[in-house]
Amino acid sequence: MTTSAKTPRSRLDPEPVPRRDWLGLGSLWAMGGALLFGFTGMMKLPKAAVLASPSKRFRVAMPENLAAGEAFVPPGRAVAVFRDAEGVYAVSTICTHLGCVVKPNPEGFECPCHGSKFAADGEVQKGPAPRPLPWLKVSISGGAVMIDEGATVPHGTKVA
Ligand code: FES
Repeated sequence: MTTSAKTPRSRLDPEPVPRRDWLGLGSLWAMGGALLFGFTGMMKLPKAAVLASPSKRFRVAMPENLAAGEAFVPPGRAVAVFRDAEGVYAVSTICTHLGCVVKPNPEGFECPCHGSKFAADGEVQKGPAPRPLPWLKVSISGGAVMIDEGATVPHGTKVA
């Protein structure tokens, strides 16, 4: 026969915390820590860098000595502007394949991404580009050339 040797508790001793309550408290602390960690992480997220996009309609200062058929690419723009005897026209330099910026060369344009070639008027000379480079709307305002990157015009549209 076994005897339990429990010592009698005094009424002044604190109630022992049951094991189940310890686990519950531990879970609460873990959850609070996870929330705090997550919130701290969110506070450290980089702020969105919102840059003002340039206007699609812009003025171009055409070089005076631009030879006929020679492309002028305004700095920071995906447009090539040409001047010939019939007038001024602008060709988008965004490749119609996957959107790379094509580079002008003496024969026209060449895409550095997959090798498409375009004539100076934007017509496709070699794929994989499926369509010609679009022509963009050009207007002359107060003697200055205005280009609208947001508006396309039919090929061959020149402004005198
Ligand atoms: S993006 Fe120009 S050829 Fe593919």
